[in-house]
Amino acid sequence: MGKNSQDSFYITTPIYYVNAEPHIGHAYTTIVADVIARFYRLSGFDTFFLTGTDEHGNKVVEAAEKSGETVKTYVDRISQIFKETWPKINIKHDYFVRTTDKNHKDTVSKILSQVYAKGDIYFSEYEGKYCIGCERFYTDTELLNGKCPIHLAEPKIISEENYFFRMSNYQEWLINYIKSNPDFIRPERYRNEVIAFLREPLEDLCISRPKTRLSWGIPLPFDDNYVTYVWFDALINYISALGYPDGDLFKKFWPVAQHIIAKDILKPHGIFWPCMLKAAGIEPYQHLNVHGYWNVNMGKMSKSLGNIVKPMDLATKYGLDAFRYFLLRDMVFGLDSDFTEESLVKRFNSDLANDLGNLISRSMNMVVKYFDGKLKPSSQFKEEDIRLQDASYRVVEEYKDMMKEFTFHKALIIVWELIGKANKYIDTMKPWSLATQNQERLNTVLNAVTEVIKIVSVLLWPFMPHTAEKIQHQLGLGIVGEKLPLNSVKKWGEMQRVRPLSKAAALFPRVEHDRELTPPSLGSKKIKEQDLKEDKKKGFSSGMAGPKVGEKVKEEPGLISLEDFQQLDIRVGTIKEADTIPGSKKLLKLVVDIGEERTIVAGMAAYYQTNDLINKQVIVIANLVPVTLMGVESRGMILAAEDEKGVYLLIPDKESKPGSKIR
Ligand code: MSP
Repeated sequence: MGKNSQDSFYITTPIYYVNAEPHIGHAYTTIVADVIARFYRLSGFDTFFLTGTDEHGNKVVEAAEKSGETVKTYVDRISQIFKETWPKINIKHDYFVRTTDKNHKDTVSKILSQVYAKGDIYFSEYEGKYCIGCERFYTDTELLNGKCPIHLAEPKIISEENYFFRMSNYQEWLINYIKSNPDFIRPERYRNEVIAFLREPLEDLCISRPKTRLSWGIPLPFDDNYVTYVWFDALINYISALGYPDGDLFKKFWPVAQHIIAKDILKPHGIFWPCMLKAAGIEPYQHLNVHGYWNVNMGKMSKSLGNIVKPMDLATKYGLDAFRYFLLRDMVFGLDSDFTEESLVKRFNSDLANDLGNLISRSMNMVVKYFDGKLKPSSQFKEEDIRLQDASYRVVEEYKDMMKEFTFHKALIIVWELIGKANKYIDTMKPWSLATQNQERLNTVLNAVTEVIKIVSVLLWPFMPHTAEKIQHQLGLGIVGEKLPLNSVKKWGEMQRVRPLSKAAALFPRVEHDRELTPPSLGSKKIKEQDLKEDKKKGFSSGMAGPKVGEKVKEEPGLISLEDFQQLDIRVGTIKEADTIPGSKKLLKLVVDIGEERTIVAGMAAYYQTNDLINKQVIVIANLVPVTLMGVESRGMILAAEDEKGVYLLIPDKESKPGSKIR
């Protein structure tokens, strides 16, 4: 192994119940784990990333019965679906643990025996309120109007003789531990929640189920009439997978363990698990990282509501990297987020197609156009280049801190600020003008731009590995992906190019949200006519209650629908060049930067001097079918007002970034 724990990183996801197939919530947690694991790998750490499935307990048995399979066949089948899903969304875990694995079962028995021998497990009768969905007893104060706050179902009263773990023995220790390790549970709101819970006396934990009621579980090593409570079994996966107690992996990775969970399972991870570890004589984990819930149209996702969002559907429709980017950018880690496909499309178009896509395509186009892809190394950087260099180095440092704190959306925001700065730098340096005036300077400017693009690609690799690698390939780099480590980026001028730079097809061609096929709340599920009829009956007024697929809206003459309007791609542009067209009194040929350069022919020669137009900002319709006027192809239209005195360009109130959308 070589390195010690200092250079190691261990990350886990919850092990998912096999009573349902993976949805966007599971995908989010697992992608977060993948992103952070990739970040640490890129930082040179030995990294171990664990995920898996939780296969015991009532819930699973009930799901197997419903599907008509034996429990074993059922758990094998669903566990396999999870296992096969993760690589499809480019998740590179190191190990997939199943609680039905022999090694796991043996470790659970070992821990139970240890804690029992210590006297921390006793036999007693208990009556309590039990939620099958959560597989746990609830105290009255935890219930919401008498119902489980997660499943909104009334718990069952269960009374039986069972084994109990003396969790109460560890209450004081845990309070002190959390107080002296302020970032043990983070973000802070969840630490506070656990502390608030610990203000009440902690009850002992019922850790067994009589086999007469549930036989699908790990038998207690000290009483064969009982199986282990599913949570006591499941939590142990985090150490069984590392080969506790003697395995090298355990020794190396347990001291740096970090868990990721959503808020739904805070109590088992924030309270049961540290107490179990303490009782077994094992050091607590390092951090518990807790995120919020993805809701759909402000409500919970559930099979019965038919609003389960399936990760593969979205990844197939929009591309895997775009899907991963959206999840990490749109959720503030720790808070809930509302999923809509419209917001995914918006992010796609503005951040990926516009900002990132344009930076790459315009830069590569220029390098290919002006230098045939062969940039010479340059060190003749001027003040404005150094400013861009400093900004990019600063971003790298801030990004590292933000990633370590799990504030992924902030890390992405600063990367996008850097992309914005690079786009602005190009606008200011005007390489297209340098092309005719100063080749040396042009070479330096394009060097600066490609250095920033390289940094951006490395910072984006944990989030969007395919995209980052494609960009690095276009840059002509010899080492790409994981092999291009984070500490290599803070060195401008050391790019190891083995090929000329190249341009490729657009990374993210703009997409339109296909409202007809994909209603906002249903992911990729098609609207069924029946659903629409139901909605009408209920008088819903959301997008769902709109016209049936294929049904025409009642048209009023002269009015267009919002959908028709939204088809227009209207953007802010900056005029870069303006020329008269020989033989035409009316027409001017303009080159306009609308996030990319376009030639547009405009009928304003009678009203504007070409010189006055340079650097003016205008409003452009960008998605008109091209037309050829006086031998010049025009790809877009510039908006202007006209009255009896003349024609006036429409200009934005404040200077806006070229390519900004008009809404
Ligand atoms: N089997 C237990 C965990 C045992 S860990 C020792 C379990 N499984 S689960 O299948 O219900 O998964 C819960 C986890 O899935 C959440 O903590 C979260 O990571 C993820 N999510 C499930 N639904 C989610 C959302 N709607 N939003 C975000 N994440 C959610 O609990």
